[in-house]
Amino acid sequence: MPGIVLVGAQWGDEGKGKATDLMGNRIDAVVKFNGGNNAGHTIVIEGEKYALHLLPSGILTPGCTAIIGNGVVIDLGVLFEEIDGLEARGVDTSNLVVSSSAHIVTPYNRTLDKVTERFLGSRKIGTTGRGIGPTYADKMARTGIRVQDIFDETVLRAKVVGALEFKNQVLIKIYNRRGFEVDAVVDELLSYADRLRPMVTDTPLLLSQMLDAGKTVVFEAGQATLLDVDHGTYPFVTSSNATAGGACTGAGVPPTRIDRVIAVVKAYATRVGEGPFPTELLDEDGEKLRQIGAEYGTTTGRPRRCGWYDAPVARYAARINGVTDFVLTKLDVLTGWEQIPVCVAYEIDGERVEELPAGQREFSAAKPIYEYLPGWTEDISGARSIEDLPDAARAYVLALEAMSGARISVIGVGPGREQTVVVHDLV
Ligand code: GDP
Ligand code: IMO
Ligand code: MG
Repeated sequence: MPGIVLVGAQWGDEGKGKATDLMGNRIDAVVKFNGGNNAGHTIVIEGEKYALHLLPSGILTPGCTAIIGNGVVIDLGVLFEEIDGLEARGVDTSNLVVSSSAHIVTPYNRTLDKVTERFLGSRKIGTTGRGIGPTYADKMARTGIRVQDIFDETVLRAKVVGALEFKNQVLIKIYNRRGFEVDAVVDELLSYADRLRPMVTDTPLLLSQMLDAGKTVVFEAGQATLLDVDHGTYPFVTSSNATAGGACTGAGVPPTRIDRVIAVVKAYATRVGEGPFPTELLDEDGEKLRQIGAEYGTTTGRPRRCGWYDAPVARYAARINGVTDFVLTKLDVLTGWEQIPVCVAYEIDGERVEELPAGQREFSAAKPIYEYLPGWTEDISGARSIEDLPDAARAYVLALEAMSGARISVIGVGPGREQTVVVHDLV
């Protein structure tokens, strides 16, 4: 089972980091294929908490090659901060490899992300302010700076001059800000070159060789299906392809090398930032989910919007990604509700609609139609097999499985690595 894609099924923060970590020493490499330090993955190992942003989760598994793929955008300052933070805690990061074609988040793009959001006012996206959108925009406009460019000062300088000719006009004339000096930007990027050089390689070639040798590779998505720039709730999305197809372009492997697609889905739903969210709870149930589930962003610390499980969203994720297995996380958070609403369809303009509508206007107008499932009161955080779950919790899982379009292979009952029920092995 060599090529495994792992994606988020909802709006992010489903527990992808924990899911990758669970596969542990059965995998040889983990590739991050999209996004940048907008992502935040919390992994808890023997009570120790690690928060990763740019580094693939595999960095915490001894012997696993951690790969930052060509589809990622890298803030080099953040990369080295994260490496230093892990090294200081005794984690060996020497197994990190970086694509020479990944794009770099420049200082002017960090600024542009923040000032654009302020400029948009009530039309803002609610970005993480990490420069992700402007960096992907440069990539598509063919004015981006790539990892390989910082090893050639002449090329780098020419690119920065070209970029700033335009960006400084925007910053000064539209946003009333100061522009950036070419030398300052070039010097900052060059300052990382020596340290970065030994990590950089042709990652699509490395991956092809690993897969040929029968190694097991996990392609780990940042963000999630409904934040995908093509398949999400556009324009309230991130600027990359976070769905399974993105693994091929973002890592440089053909679709024929993907054997399994795992989607991580929370037993309820959360979203950070703006955009439609049909099952959102603005009442005390929402607050209760946020408190019990500790639903505050790993990257920005923002409170996450919380709501009930949305089965049409899960079915959509199953279809768009070709999901073979779901990892259902945070079932423990639902302990204590007398009954648990699950959205089974929407009412849109007076009609019952079973699938996610393709139109953004329709999705924004969608009202959830709920089915109410019986709750449970027993503490389930110690469950290690499906038989350990109370009948109502097991029935909840089976009901979700029946309405979500793929089998549920793993159930999370707590943040710890061991707080997991495995129904079918992932690897
Ligand atoms: P990611 O971005 O998808 O990797 O997810 P985050 O790390 O941003 O958010 C998921 C949070 O839920 C983290 O704090 C995890 O430690 C935590 N978590 C993961 N699985 C479970 C679970 O089954 N139960 C509980 N209570 N917490 C979990
Ligand atoms: P992980 O990998 C949740 C959201 C932001 C905003 C939108 C665009 O931890 O699941 P961006 O900075 O990417 O331009 O912001 O996307 N967003 C996330 N929400 N989890 C994430 O990553 C996210 N990465 C971006 O809140 O709404
Ligand atoms: Mg996260």
